[in-house]
Amino acid sequence: MQGNAKVEARLQAELANELAARHQYEAHSAMYDNWGYKRLAKIAKRLADEEGGHANELMERLTFFNQVPNVSVLGPVNVKSTVPEMIASDFSAETKAIDDYGSDYALSVVAGDVVTAINYFAEHAKDESEHANLWEAELQMIKDVGLQNYLAEQMRE
Ligand SMILES: [Fe+2]
Ligand SMILES: [Fe+2]
Repeated sequence: MQGNAKVEARLQAELANELAARHQYEAHSAMYDNWGYKRLAKIAKRLADEEGGHANELMERLTFFNQVPNVSVLGPVNVKSTVPEMIASDFSAETKAIDDYGSDYALSVVAGDVVTAINYFAEHAKDESEHANLWEAELQMIKDVGLQNYLAEQMRE
């Protein structure tokens, strides 16, 4: 089917962002796992899979419009080296994703493509807001109980 060029460009840009998000979570999950922080490793792995699912859905929508999904380009990846920085980095990537999907949604509605707006951009924005909320709660927990107590809890699943 014929799509709107601006909407297709945003689908490609978001595909690059989702692939980057998956990479960042995979790296963080491997690092958490190596440190014995099983709980965080499991959360990051689940989110890596969800971002991968988003990437697949964007590819589906691009191919529906007879576009070739570009999987060679990655959005920004911000892998960090300490637990609080890793969580803060993931939180900030998620809040940016919510903003980006919000403007993609508006752009698609203006372009007359409400299906992409609602079923892809708004759906993903909803998932990203759950991800952001999850990391926000972890950051609050670190503040409340202190880093050492928080880390001790991460060794259990
Ligand atoms: Fe995502
Ligand atoms: Fe996310």
